[in-house]
Amino acid sequence: MKIEEVKSTVRAQRIAAHSHVKGLGLNESGAALPVGGGLVGQSNAREAAGIVVDLIKSKKMAGRALLLAGPPGTGKTAIALAIAQELGNKVPFCPMVGSEVYSSEIKKTEVLMENFRRSIGLRIRETKEVYEGEVTELTPIETENPMGGYGKTISNVVIGLKTAKGTKQLKLDPSIYESLQKEKVEVGDVIYIEANSGAVKRQGRSDTFATEFDLETEEYVPLPKGDVHKKKEVIQDVTLHDLDVANARPQGGQDVLSMMGQLMKPKKTEITDKLRMEINKVVNRYIDQGIAELVPGVLFIDEVHMLDLETFTYLHKSLESPIAPIVVFATNRGRCVIRGTDDITSPHGMPLDLLDRVLIIRTLPYSISEMEQIIRIRAQTEGLQMEDSAITTLSEIAGQATLRYAVQLLTPAYQMCKVNGKTIIGPDDLKDVHGLFLDAKRSATFLTERNNKYMV
Ligand SMILES: Nc1ncnc2c1ncn2[C@@H]1O[C@H](COP(=O)(O)OP(=O)(O)OP(=O)(O)O)[C@@H](O)[C@H]1O
Ligand SMILES: [Mg+2]
Repeated sequence: MKIEEVKSTVRAQRIAAHSHVKGLGLNESGAALPVGGGLVGQSNAREAAGIVVDLIKSKKMAGRALLLAGPPGTGKTAIALAIAQELGNKVPFCPMVGSEVYSSEIKKTEVLMENFRRSIGLRIRETKEVYEGEVTELTPIETENPMGGYGKTISNVVIGLKTAKGTKQLKLDPSIYESLQKEKVEVGDVIYIEANSGAVKRQGRSDTFATEFDLETEEYVPLPKGDVHKKKEVIQDVTLHDLDVANARPQGGQDVLSMMGQLMKPKKTEITDKLRMEINKVVNRYIDQGIAELVPGVLFIDEVHMLDLETFTYLHKSLESPIAPIVVFATNRGRCVIRGTDDITSPHGMPLDLLDRVLIIRTLPYSISEMEQIIRIRAQTEGLQMEDSAITTLSEIAGQATLRYAVQLLTPAYQMCKVNGKTIIGPDDLKDVHGLFLDAKRSATFLTERNNKYMV
């Protein structure tokens, strides 16, 4: 199994609407602060989520499931993302939306399986022979291309590495030059090169350069201690899905025939059940040997009522397997028909036997003053200025429609305010955009009133 080249396949999260959420905002004893971590009110749900975070951290939650249930716009998605923030980036958190399983190309269960494996981490601890230090020089040596033709090729790279104890100059293979470039290594960076695989890892910028640029979003690391050439404990955090992908790639040689073979193969190599089983076997062996440690993360399935009976059954089965993440569901539905059945209704649109094994956290509608605070925080994160009366108006709008609708009105309202030649949003701007853009409720009433004018 390849673990050296494993690239992380964590997906970019779309959390723009929740960018103000930084955590659950609990105090040391686990009680919710009135306003904390960007979250306002909803204290029971936040405290419950806090307990879940503790359980996850102490690894007592694997294979269990949680359901966030409540009306639209009551912060279910926000709380789930706050859980992710509290867990930090060492615990995998994989968000998905129920409807993602419907694709014409991939089986529904395959989508779920992939996300399941994205949410299970593996921390691999290995002692490796490495060359480590701050880069003091980086010179590619060029020669004429031996194959003829124009241009030059790189015959080797000379790299200088410095530690607190000494310096060393290494002459490296050109293939390492590529990995150096991929990691964007420059003079002044702290890196290590694995001796037997040649894999390069950039750890950060040496902190002797820390005062050089203030605005950089760089991670500064101290100059490594000890010799340049040494044994080092390397810790890698990967997910099972990362391992699947790394080992599923077509693995041909450099000769012409296998290159041709690769061209014939479909672009997307399939991850088969057999490959997954092989990987599980190796992973289990590593765990037994104490090299690796399993880190069950969180699979977050938003809008879970979009799943159908087939996927629910599959989920239920997967939750029973020995390697399972914690699954967090969210839904805003009350009793409704389970998808994929003709007439079986059930609370939250989930089959009763699955519902029976989840812990349910309720989210409740906000009071007007809580909504005012949320709007204030949101306006701040978006860098918008609002008059106090405008905030009151908007929270009233949120009371009639939903909080989400109100939050979404902020940007158009700012546009309106600019058009009117102002910089601070006033109540009139909000009333204007409220008239221009309907919320779901008003649009629905509009439809029922004028139903005969539409095509049916
Ligand atoms: N307690 C809170 N504190 C701060 N912001 C909140 C809070 N609750 C909700 N929000 C913000 O309000 C907006 C709507 O909330 P969110 O999307 O989490 O609702 P939801 O319960 O997931 O709704 P739906 O059922 O429609 O998916 C988001 O921008 C969210 O970040
Ligand atoms: Mg949501």
